[in-house]
Amino acid sequence: MSVVSNQELVLVTGKGGVGKTTLTAALARAAHRSGRRVLVTEVAPDVHNPSPVLGYFGKAQYREEEPVLIEPRLFGVRLTPPIGHRQFLRAALRVRLLVDTAMKSAALTRFLLAAPTFPEIGLIYQLVELLRSKKFDQIFVDLPATGHAIALASLPKVVHRILPTGLIGDAIGEGLAIMGDPKRTAAVVITLPEAMPVTESVELIDAFSKCSIRVASAVLNKLPPDPFNHDERKSLTELLERRRGTGEPRLLGTRELRRLERAQNAQRSFHEVLPPDVARFEVPLFEGLDHRRVAEEMEATLSRPVRPSWGPR
Ligand SMILES: Nc1ncnc2c1ncn2[C@@H]1O[C@H](COP(=O)(O)OP(=O)(O)OP(=O)(O)O)[C@@H](O)[C@H]1O
Ligand SMILES: [Mg+2]
Repeated sequence: MSVVSNQELVLVTGKGGVGKTTLTAALARAAHRSGRRVLVTEVAPDVHNPSPVLGYFGKAQYREEEPVLIEPRLFGVRLTPPIGHRQFLRAALRVRLLVDTAMKSAALTRFLLAAPTFPEIGLIYQLVELLRSKKFDQIFVDLPATGHAIALASLPKVVHRILPTGLIGDAIGEGLAIMGDPKRTAAVVITLPEAMPVTESVELIDAFSKCSIRVASAVLNKLPPDPFNHDERKSLTELLERRRGTGEPRLLGTRELRRLERAQNAQRSFHEVLPPDVARFEVPLFEGLDHRRVAEEMEATLSRPVRPSWGPR
């Protein structure tokens, strides 16, 4: 079982800071290794800031609007509202000069960025154009954190109701068809072994399913390693119990042990509360590694058929 199979669109989402970008890089790298033509993308406000996800592939920053070649069969591009708008206008007007002039008009840019849905329409238009190009076997999208991701996921349906036809309507309709088909789109939710994040990941899965996007897999990331076996844990717990209330200072390990227990409880709940059709994966906390090595370790962990781990199943 793998996190995603050969869906043409893979959407990675989760709360802020849980490992979305690392997972996007790990999954894209695995797909690339298996011989596919891969495009790695991320949602960003514009093309000028350094790109977190491309940093995993040795490309920190680039300004191109079109996908850039990172390695043979591996491409990167940013999904940004301005690029999407430009592509849309270009398709609508079919005259490049006019489009560039139009986009330089501060009033037009302000207008396009003002209405809450316009920036996202640009993103979706750009994504659909990339899917239409058929240049890639698989497109991996590092989505923004939860709230924005839900807004993005729910938008196509709303817009399609208002604009069922025309250039935007057609593109959005195509996007909806792709995203609503689990053979073509896989969403992956990543979370941490803590009570709130696990609950929120279930809500996120639910919100996506309301947008007709199926979450194929959930990844529980940063599981702390458990240094104790069953007997050791038992004697440690007894020791800590005996000391409780004796007035002696708390042992240093107490907090760490509680932290482990909380993680294990969250792990249990992760397996209990997720909808049964969502495949589950676990990734340990890798300590002392830089972000690229973390992504490599994550890729290796997720490619192994047996889940790692500790704690009861
Ligand atoms: N399993 C892991 N073990 C150790 N470190 C990890 C693990 N997974 C991710 N990290 C580290 O956690 C940090 C956050 O990861 P990442 O940037 O992928 O999260 P994110 O969800 O994309 O964050 P943001 O919401 O800010 O975009 C990074 O420094 C990353 O290297
Ligand atoms: Mg990120």
